[in-house]
Amino acid sequence: MERHLLSIDDLSVDDITTLFATAAEMHDVQRREVKKLPALRGRTVINLFFEDSTRTRSSFEIAGKWLSADTINITGKGSSTSKGESLRDTVLTIASMGVDALVMRHHASGAAHQVAQWIDAAVINAGDGTHEHPTQALLDAYTLTRRLGSLEGRHVVIVGDLTHSRVFRSNIGCLTRLGARVTVVAPPTLMPSGVAAWSAADGFATSYDLDEVLPTADAVMMLRVQRERMSGGFFPSPREYAVGYGLTRDRLATLGPDVPICHPGPMNRGLEIAADAADAAQSAILEQVSAGVAIRMSVLYHLLAGEAS
Ligand code: NCD
Repeated sequence: MERHLLSIDDLSVDDITTLFATAAEMHDVQRREVKKLPALRGRTVINLFFEDSTRTRSSFEIAGKWLSADTINITGKGSSTSKGESLRDTVLTIASMGVDALVMRHHASGAAHQVAQWIDAAVINAGDGTHEHPTQALLDAYTLTRRLGSLEGRHVVIVGDLTHSRVFRSNIGCLTRLGARVTVVAPPTLMPSGVAAWSAADGFATSYDLDEVLPTADAVMMLRVQRERMSGGFFPSPREYAVGYGLTRDRLATLGPDVPICHPGPMNRGLEIAADAADAAQSAILEQVSAGVAIRMSVLYHLLAGEAS
């Protein structure tokens, strides 16, 4: 594995398989009463988050703590960037304290790649703008593997605000590498520009018709409508979006009972996903959250205890 985890493209199929195997062991730790391994004792991990986060930030923090690393959280609002300090000065300052890993979320696409060129610590991209979110893709694929077994030939349908989704971009790379057949569905206004050439190159299908695609799905991944990244009207009304592209109660009825329903969170209930679907027995949404801790333990372990792995 490389020194940083900036993009899903940094990982080979072997790397992903290794990360999943370690995550499965870490998952067992989660079920113990005493959830502590000594693997990263004496190592320091900083979570530097310039965007809001519930799951990603806390699961990186828990993952670091359960591996006995010292973990510290810094948020954009509470840091000196709010006093005008540049990103470069902020990360060089943090790096000078002797940090081993920097987990970073930033609103600018490419921010993590840039930071990795400035500092020696391992940089983990926890979401950069609309670009990538590799640990989310890993935990999604890990969750699906646990539900479905091998993803080889399985049909994964990704639905929603593709234009603004870093989760979708990282998932395409991860799922296709693991042999899944992927179809992405969105209204024309939320389908990324240039998707035709991209889908041909990366081997995934696109559709505007959710009802046509859904009956052939082995797994469904609903994505959040990211209103905070939208500058204009991407769809006429929330109701119209839900009717065309939401996982509604009626659409839930067309899914097989064993088809996992995923959502990276946070959910807009009633918009991209109905409460019945989010809370259905086949929903994998909370499994994704718990897998998130195991995957992030695995990633931290392989990046920081690399020589020993
Ligand atoms: C995603 C993110 O922040 O990119 N959420 C997450 O990490 N769990 C998706 C989203 O915000 O919709």
